Amino acid sequence: MFDNPALILNTATTPSGTINWKSPSNIALIKYWGKYGVQFPRNPSISFTLENAFTQTILGYEPKTNQGDGISLDFTFHGEENEAFKTKMVKFLESIRPIFPFLNQLHLTVKSGNSFPHSAGIASSASSMSALALCLCTLEDELFQTLQDDTLFDKKASYVARLGSGSACRSIYGGMAAWGETSAIIGAANEYAIPFEEEMHDVYKNFHDDILIASQGEKSVSSRAGHALMEGNAYAAPRYQQANDRMQQLVEVLKNGDVETFGKIAENEALTLHALMMTSDPSYILMRPNSLKMIELIRDYRATTKHPIYFTLDAGPNLHVLYPENIIHEVRPFIEEQLVPLCEDNMWISDWVGEGPEQLDT
Ligand code: DP6
Repeated sequence: MFDNPALILNTATTPSGTINWKSPSNIALIKYWGKYGVQFPRNPSISFTLENAFTQTILGYEPKTNQGDGISLDFTFHGEENEAFKTKMVKFLESIRPIFPFLNQLHLTVKSGNSFPHSAGIASSASSMSALALCLCTLEDELFQTLQDDTLFDKKASYVARLGSGSACRSIYGGMAAWGETSAIIGAANEYAIPFEEEMHDVYKNFHDDILIASQGEKSVSSRAGHALMEGNAYAAPRYQQANDRMQQLVEVLKNGDVETFGKIAENEALTLHALMMTSDPSYILMRPNSLKMIELIRDYRATTKHPIYFTLDAGPNLHVLYPENIIHEVRPFIEEQLVPLCEDNMWISDWVGEGPEQLDT
């Protein structure tokens, strides 16, 4: 869709430069779980874009002196060389050369870092891949002036981010973003995400999503492997149908502000995701005992106080606690006194719906 063999530089006149983007993570309410082809989702998904959990990526470029054919990259993460991350990035950059053929003609320097500790066990592929995709689109535009139109720029950045990590395509937009074909949202596509912000009821615009770190350990099964296991899962087909149906329901409550139904769908989606892991072959469990304890505490607190506080999970043990801004003063003491002590090293991140990526000065 975005392959463009014409994007070839005259290296004699190519400048050097630096590009700097900060891009957030996101939390899905309808989960993407299962994919086919080159990163196409088996079902539609929709997420809140976060504010405080982000990656900052600085991309330096200069024309290559040695015009070999490969990707030439220096990479550091939090100021240190990281061979594993570098190898992944080189592989990714190689795979997107039909989209950005000029990558062969440049020497690149990528300096990347997250706002949250890497050990926190928070999925960072959405923020890191979206930050990289934004840097690459800005690079194309600086060199060829081909992405001056903001809508086209975002669409291409989302497309490229998707190739890096499916969920990353939704991080390009502030507020909420939807990815995957669905009749519930006009314009929704499998190739890239689209923004959902305008249709969102005011109650969700500053919704909170506090991330409670139940365990900082490395996940025993990566998301990539988890998606693959959906292929043999007996519940796969009904699950994809369910995600489609829930998308219709959720879009309604996102428009009309029915927070109770919103919470019910969000919690059910989280538990469905983990049920799919438990019913995979081999089966696996990413929730930890304290994840379950926190779920019970949230449900008890909600039953007693009637406050609209809910949870969701991504593919890991950590709880995302969802609640509207207007109950923060009641809910915060509950989180700090009852949930935080269940977190590993008392670690948690206060987060909320954010405005999306930001290009920073270099
Ligand atoms: C559970 O986007 O991390 O967070 O495309 O293989 O990189 P890859 O997977 P990834 O999967 C995320 C799954 C999820 C749900 C979601 O974000 O929709």
